[in-house]
Amino acid sequence: MIQPDNFACHNIHMETERLKLRPFKDGDFDIAVPFYKDPEFLNAIEESPPDEPVSKEYLKKAGKFMRDSGFLFAIVEKASGRTIGEVCLQWMNLERAKIAGKKVMRLPIAIWDKTLWGKGYGKEVVRCLMAHAFGKLGIDRFCPVDVPADNIRSIALWRSLGLTVARKADGGKMLDFEITRAEYEKAAQSST
Ligand SMILES: CC(C)(COP(=O)(O)OP(=O)(O)OC[C@H]1O[C@@H](n2cnc3c(N)ncnc32)[C@H](O)[C@@H]1OP(=O)(O)O)[C@@H](O)C(=O)NCCC(=O)NCCS
Repeated sequence: MIQPDNFACHNIHMETERLKLRPFKDGDFDIAVPFYKDPEFLNAIEESPPDEPVSKEYLKKAGKFMRDSGFLFAIVEKASGRTIGEVCLQWMNLERAKIAGKKVMRLPIAIWDKTLWGKGYGKEVVRCLMAHAFGKLGIDRFCPVDVPADNIRSIALWRSLGLTVARKADGGKMLDFEITRAEYEKAAQSST
């Protein structure tokens, strides 16, 4: 049963060494709003500044697109109990990255608090969701798309997990990454 405050409308809970992933709640948008006012954070995730002030309603609009096409999670730090970010395992919605007859997913992710960047949290989250997507959802290809070409952290994250650039978009301003099932399984085998 879906509780009234369960914005994500799924009941999947996952856990990594230091983090929990749980369905995104309506109240999580209130926690997110102040972080979306930080220019450094906004610059990391948006190609250009938002055309209206970031409010709860603004974030909910984007959140609805994600939850209607995938699994939207809040990222919770176990040690502090704080909700520190959002991540969505989302069915591919960009035509350029779709492949007829294949199951392809993308993964928008944001750790809101920049003091927590670079501690391995992003990698922990993505490893967990890649395992879920390939293992449980049976995807053929995992493709984080629309990564700003100047987002060093995001690029380092995808590369560190064995993903490669599939294409450049928007005159080289955006990068699409990918890893196929065969590449994922090969990497998983060689790490055991
Ligand atoms: C992008 C983001 C999810 C990455 O998560 P993170 O927790 O900061 O990254 P991690 O600490 O897990 O690092 C992952 C890899 O990138 C490397 N890395 C992290 N920060 C780096 C930096 N500033 N420069 C170079 N490499 C970096 C790490 O060394 C690690 O590689 P390794 O395991 O081979 O050592 C996070 O920084 C974030 O949410 N940023 C703001 C929102 C954003 O940019 N979202 C993505 C939009 S496309």
